[in-house]
Amino acid sequence: MTRLLLTLSLASLCCGEVTKPNIILIIADDLGWNDVGFHGSNQIPTPNIDALAWSGLVLQNYYVPPICTPSRSALMTGKYPIHTGMQHFVILGDEPRGLPLTEKLLPQYLKELGYSTHLVGKWHLGSYKKEYLPLNRGFDTHLGFWTSAIDFYDHTSFYFDTWGYDFRRGFQVAHDLFGVYATDVYTDEAIKLIRGHNSSGRLFLVVAHSAVHSGNPYEFLRAPDDLIANFSHLPDRQRQKYAAMVTKLDESVGKVIEALQQRGMLENSIVLFTTDNGGAAAGFDNNAGSNYPLKGVKNTLWEGGVRGAAILWSPLLAKKPRVATQRLHIADWLPTFLHAAGGNISNLENIDGVNQWMALSEDLVSERKSIVHNIDDIFGSASITVEQWKLHKGTNYNGVWDDWYGPSGREGSYDVDLVLTGYAGRAINKLGLIPPVDKIFSLREASIIKCNSSIVPIACNPLLAPCLFNIEEDPCEIQNLADVEPSILTQMLDELERVNRTAVAPNNKAKDPRGDPKYWGRVYTNFGDYALPHTSADCT
Ligand SMILES: *[C@@H]1O[C@H](CO)[C@@H](O)[C@H](O)[C@H]1NC(C)=O
Ligand SMILES: *[C@@H]1O[C@H](CO)[C@@H](O)[C@H](O)[C@H]1NC(C)=O
Ligand SMILES: *[C@@H]1O[C@H](CO)[C@@H](O)[C@H](O)[C@H]1NC(C)=O
Ligand SMILES: *[C@@H]1O[C@H](CO)[C@@H](O)[C@H](O)[C@H]1NC(C)=O
Ligand SMILES: *[C@@H]1O[C@H](CO)[C@@H](O)[C@H](O)[C@H]1NC(C)=O
Repeated sequence: MTRLLLTLSLASLCCGEVTKPNIILIIADDLGWNDVGFHGSNQIPTPNIDALAWSGLVLQNYYVPPICTPSRSALMTGKYPIHTGMQHFVILGDEPRGLPLTEKLLPQYLKELGYSTHLVGKWHLGSYKKEYLPLNRGFDTHLGFWTSAIDFYDHTSFYFDTWGYDFRRGFQVAHDLFGVYATDVYTDEAIKLIRGHNSSGRLFLVVAHSAVHSGNPYEFLRAPDDLIANFSHLPDRQRQKYAAMVTKLDESVGKVIEALQQRGMLENSIVLFTTDNGGAAAGFDNNAGSNYPLKGVKNTLWEGGVRGAAILWSPLLAKKPRVATQRLHIADWLPTFLHAAGGNISNLENIDGVNQWMALSEDLVSERKSIVHNIDDIFGSASITVEQWKLHKGTNYNGVWDDWYGPSGREGSYDVDLVLTGYAGRAINKLGLIPPVDKIFSLREASIIKCNSSIVPIACNPLLAPCLFNIEEDPCEIQNLADVEPSILTQMLDELERVNRTAVAPNNKAKDPRGDPKYWGRVYTNFGDYALPHTSADCT
């Protein structure tokens, strides 16, 4: 019986147009490890996201680069940012660079396999020239923004010293959406695309949320007032707003799952829910996320910056639901999804991603032994994991963000009824995939990371000397074993040196004054295609 099932699940992934799955990728921006109900916090209910977790795979050992542009570049190329020049910081709206055009991106591969491809929300992989924009990089449509973050209502982006409108429908400025809450724009567009999808083909839909990134200085965190009021019991005003933003994100996930179910597409879909990087906690980036109990924040190489909250969901996965402990990196999705889509991945050259489909579906050992978290010689930080060992050399922000931050959100209790009665819970239940309540509670117990109370803390200061952790026994990075395991430390430093020799130089560029939206009718534009002065705001 087991053998028969295995054969069937393999067959359904092998050949023919008919069984190709729809691939739905939902990306949260800066969502912390502890900002979802499935990792143990009761503070912000995420019943729709949790419904995916309890009927799919909770990805317990899943890693992402620590900041946006590098992370999205790895997702789109299957390569570490050190191999594409994207390893340092993010692309600024007035910076003349983009993800190199020599790279072939995930939607381009999927288009070749017959998928229709859509991006809703954030791009942030280059916009100074038209050739770098989503419609020239494999997407049939795009509704959303080009830069790092926007105000959720007015859709302007204020970053360092530039400020302008940043909302587009394809190449056109979407002035008509001014004032509409960004998460609702993305939800409505995703539902529209699902309803309008020609079911004789397959859908690749990326919903890249603004939530829960902070926006502009006049009000960093924005959500509907009645929802913020629902969190008035939380002591921190910023956390109240953050919770409301998470709630809107969760609702969006639910409505997308419901729309897929109503179109009869959910049975044959793979849904990945992933954060792009760790949470911005304790006021980092003027935000209020939580990576508890992990160390550090976004844009640090501690677990709180690089261990990503994520779920892989699909009826096509053989062994589910479960807390999947396979070691994964965001670069793995490119070969994994191409394999699931029936692509020939033996043609892929020079990628760092590993095809994880069989390991995840059948609960086999991941072929990934190591992870390069990043090497950033401009910030002066580097970190790699090999098997259970994690090395830190240097750190960002001069060590200021190398601490542990809350809130834990462990007070109160988990409301499983919200999961069962939410949009996603009801839709998934129609497929018969929601497990019994006691199973939900045992999965939740298994997905909660607890710091190892039996180990003795040993301090680490990576500004002075490299640090070494056994990340399997010590996920909270409490006990620096650099002096205890000198030969392992040496091996890890050798490995870092070896990997570093494969890195290309970062491709960051100086800001170009021509990129300032003040020259373009207060709109961020593909300024590299035009000479100043110009006459129209809609320069495309
Ligand atoms: C859907 O796609 C098929 C195959 O390309 C085509 O024949 C059909 O006309 C399309 N249907 C709609 C409603 O566009
Ligand atoms: C606030 O919470 C209450 C109680 O859970 C709920 O009925 C109400 O719909 C919530 N408000 C909003 C705006 O979601
Ligand atoms: C996949 O590509 C490789 C390398 O080009 C080729 O040798 C192999 O025959 C291909 N496999 C299939 C099933 O097309
Ligand atoms: C906690 O650390 C101890 C000592 O290193 C180790 O033996 C044990 O396996 C660890 N516990 C867990 C749950 O990893
Ligand atoms: C990586 O190599 C570059 C160029 O040789 C060097 O400047 C840098 O210090 C190295 N970084 C690390 C983390 O070893």
